[in-house]
Amino acid sequence: MKVDDIKTIGVVGAGTMGSGIAQVAASAGFKVVLRDISDEALERGMNIIKKSLSRMVKKEKITQNQADEIINRIKTTKDLSDLKDVDYVIEAVFEKMEIKKELFSELDKLTREEVILSTNTSSLSITEIASATERPDKVVGMHFFNPVPVLPLVEIVQGLTTSDETVELAYQLAKKMGKTPIKTKDQPGFIVNRILVPYMNEAAWAFMEGVGSAEEIDQAMKLGANMPIGPLALIDLVGVDVALDVLEVLYKEFGDPKFRPAPILRQMARAGHLGRKTGKGFFTYEDKT
Ligand code: 3HC
Repeated sequence: MKVDDIKTIGVVGAGTMGSGIAQVAASAGFKVVLRDISDEALERGMNIIKKSLSRMVKKEKITQNQADEIINRIKTTKDLSDLKDVDYVIEAVFEKMEIKKELFSELDKLTREEVILSTNTSSLSITEIASATERPDKVVGMHFFNPVPVLPLVEIVQGLTTSDETVELAYQLAKKMGKTPIKTKDQPGFIVNRILVPYMNEAAWAFMEGVGSAEEIDQAMKLGANMPIGPLALIDLVGVDVALDVLEVLYKEFGDPKFRPAPILRQMARAGHLGRKTGKGFFTYEDKT
């Protein structure tokens, strides 16, 4: 398959990442089938997309007409079998290996054999996800960054069994979606999260130890290290649960105590204080999209 043969992309998961990926794909002219398991999840996902597009209309980056066309290219569904005719799949569901393996096994049975099944996982093993399918050479990581419409990078992750052709196609597709791909090997956290998430974790430890308030820690990193947002606001942006999941993987896979998650993250996850998406994390938010 060539990148120009890809007309329709199936996106599985309409959360923060899945909706952003659907938006970027539709903006690049692809038809998108966006799947999640509930009407509420799909509605929330479409609201995130609409809000992001209207921001772009206001900034005169796109016209209202273009925004409408982008929305019209996205079809939502709760039925996974609606992905049976797509030309490429990008999965962006919860960071739980068992869920991903089950899903990939279903997608493997459902889609045409030449279709590449990619995952937006932030840290799980591509090789292990691929092992749940009969096409491990066609499973690849495509790791986007939050907010997807704004951040240019996509990490293209090659598992042990991923073919060079698959990597090349994912690379070309990311470019066609207007992104800048960088190839990386299947190591926990790939490039960005291996470096970025321990930084966020250290900020959570510093907060727990009373080094400063959440505001002070974040202001310090913005003013002293020129970060666009502080590390605690960044945890709220990516999700406390997601940051914790990545840390758990890094900690377990490397067996190195330097990745030990700050206990506050686990407490916050248990309390449902997941950051922006629930309206409360290290900071509070009126708008949950
Ligand atoms: N959709 C469309 N446009 C958006 C947007 C969205 N969701 N969010 C922000 N923008 C646009 C704004 O309209 C603005 O446009 P302009 O340049 O034309 O004025 C521009 O982006 C900057 O936004 P703001 O002025 O509102 O605010 P900031 O200057 O703080 O920028 C930010 C927002 C780009 C999100 C910036 O704060 C940032 O880069 N933060 C760090 C994000 C980051 O590190 N993400 C990676 C997280 S790790 C990850 O995702 C991996 C996962 O696996 C854990």
